[in-house]
Amino acid sequence: MAYILGEREFWGLPFKVSPAVLVPRPDSETVIEAVLGLMPQRDRAWRILDLGTGSGCLLLTLLREYPQARGVGLDASPEALSMARENADTLGVSARVRLAAGDWRRAGWAGELGGPFDLVVSNPPYIDSGAIDGLMPEVARHEPRLALDGGSDGLDAYRLIAAAAPALVAGGGHIVVEVGEGQAADVAGLFALAGLRPLAPWKDLGGIERVVAAEQ
Ligand SMILES: C[S@@+](CC[C@H](N)C(=O)[O-])C[C@H]1O[C@@H](n2cnc3c(N)ncnc32)[C@H](O)[C@@H]1O
Repeated sequence: MAYILGEREFWGLPFKVSPAVLVPRPDSETVIEAVLGLMPQRDRAWRILDLGTGSGCLLLTLLREYPQARGVGLDASPEALSMARENADTLGVSARVRLAAGDWRRAGWAGELGGPFDLVVSNPPYIDSGAIDGLMPEVARHEPRLALDGGSDGLDAYRLIAAAAPALVAGGGHIVVEVGEGQAADVAGLFALAGLRPLAPWKDLGGIERVVAAEQ
């Protein structure tokens, strides 16, 4: 439906969508809630990185909430990046955002982003490959596979992101990621293995552990 209308509201803001991007989900607003709790100082010039920015809903919402912050949004899909660019223009934050093409499966990807960052957010693909065809048809048939497919156990992207996190997150900074149902403990374990300090997970409105954060 959102693809037909061409727009979906997220955190009370309008986001344009196309079949190249995941439709922003209410569950992902838990990422914003977690960040606002961890970083209550709204007037600081935070440096923010969003891995797999898609429509830009996480990064651009945070740039609206933190008017002095600057951000980088990375995505492997050029079509998603142009959608995020349009949304940044509409929301009036384009002067504070850099949208970068890149792929966290490629060696050296994290070194090109100009870090470290006070905050890294991500809602990476986290569905296990074998489960995608069994999802509701509006998801399985219409949303981009690159936005969904997390590999054989759903955790491929978290492994790569956790391994890069110590270099990407500044001392005292945070990484905050959305996770699929039942993945919170595994993802917290990946951050701990990388040397970060995981925090207690945040639940979404359905009571599911939806967001995992760790401190550098
Ligand atoms: C689940 S979507 C999230 C989009 C948006 N951040 C949101 O919360 O609605 C994941 C995004 O990661 C991007 N992505 C998937 N694999 C990637 C990779 N290896 N490197 C960079 N971006 C990737 C996809 O193109 C997609 O936009």
